[in-house]
Amino acid sequence: MDQRCQPRQESPVPTASKGWFEAARFGLFVHFGLYSLAARHEWVRSREAMSQEAYDRYLERFEPDLFDARQLARAAREAGMRYAVLTAKHHDGFCLFDSALTDYTSVRAAGRDLVAEFAEAMRAEGLRVGLYYSLLDWHHPDFTVDLHHPLRGTPAEREARDMARYRSYVQGQIRELLTGYGPIDLLFFDFSYREKGPAEWGAEHLMSLVRELRPGILVNDRLGIPGDYVTPEQYQPDRPLERDGVPVRWEACHTLNGSWGYDRDNHEYKDPALLVRMLVESVARGGNMILNVGPTGRGALDPRARETLRAIGAWLAPHARAVHGAGPSAFEAPPNAVYTQAGSRLYLHLLAWPLKHLHLPGLAGRVRYAQLLHDGSEIRFHQLDGARHEHNNLAPPGQPAGTLTLTLPIIRPDVLLPVVELHLSEGA
Ligand code: GLC
Repeated sequence: MDQRCQPRQESPVPTASKGWFEAARFGLFVHFGLYSLAARHEWVRSREAMSQEAYDRYLERFEPDLFDARQLARAAREAGMRYAVLTAKHHDGFCLFDSALTDYTSVRAAGRDLVAEFAEAMRAEGLRVGLYYSLLDWHHPDFTVDLHHPLRGTPAEREARDMARYRSYVQGQIRELLTGYGPIDLLFFDFSYREKGPAEWGAEHLMSLVRELRPGILVNDRLGIPGDYVTPEQYQPDRPLERDGVPVRWEACHTLNGSWGYDRDNHEYKDPALLVRMLVESVARGGNMILNVGPTGRGALDPRARETLRAIGAWLAPHARAVHGAGPSAFEAPPNAVYTQAGSRLYLHLLAWPLKHLHLPGLAGRVRYAQLLHDGSEIRFHQLDGARHEHNNLAPPGQPAGTLTLTLPIIRPDVLLPVVELHLSEGA
């Protein structure tokens, strides 16, 4: 038998109380802040080297009257997402929560604690709640001016700034976020780079504070020290991720159009079919996918984002069990296909629709039943002893022993990604 067909041995990723994350597989990222009004990328202040005064024009006009956390939560749940992460503070330093440590908040600007609204709405829809917190802060007077800072190249570079004071500020805000908003399930710190890393963030200290306040929480790896999961960004891993040979929990974070914050004139939207495929490929490699939306300056989802979430949800509704609670399979998928597996059910995701027959190496004798997942229609199959497949008295090239052959309809099902559910026999 072809060795490639043998189940691979995989060491399990530790799950403990954090197992909800793997089971969830799919989350919503929300980037919203003052940059949403500029509508040209969340890095606008840095990219355009804007002074604080210039950037304040967004603060003065910040009025998130269309930010409706409940609607957002419903859209996420209907898209099949099981957790959601909001930018509590982004690199511009603007906070979407009520912080006693700064006036630079949505509460002062517009009388709205968006983190509170978000956390409550997500929980009400049964979603886990995560917060994104930027380690960079271009507003804080003690955050030293570095290559990303909007004031780079100005006299501010030579000002006395005290990162130790900034570190206490970060600790204080993390304490506020983890004690004032109910159970927070996940923290997404962002990010370490050449000029600032674990030492500047006080990473070890911060991590122990987080663990002390919320022992079961998941923390990402961008403090620059190992956390609970790693975060490939706008990049799809093509295999399970490992650190020193040990599998690690991971989540690919993706945008709809390349920008995290609302970006009005950027139309490079990913097709929903591509996004579904990316989700399935993440699951097949043991990872999660978190998909971002950047609400408009007034806080609403734009039609493109809404439609994409709707389309993904329409696919996920009948295909949920191939994603939620599913993971990699030890079987090797045929070309143009991806396997995910949940217990004795193996899911064959068909990236290209074949003509009538599909040969599955290594599955002969291991499948009891097969059906298209979206409509539960039976898929017939046969398994020969491997010598050859007879047809019209012609003997086409034989398939290797152990091959199972599906007979598929000529017409590709009209879903973003067709899936065949294979019920494996005991002990397969
Ligand atoms: C990057 C960007 C940031 C975005 C984040 C999401 O680090 O700086 O704007 O929030 O990725 O992963």
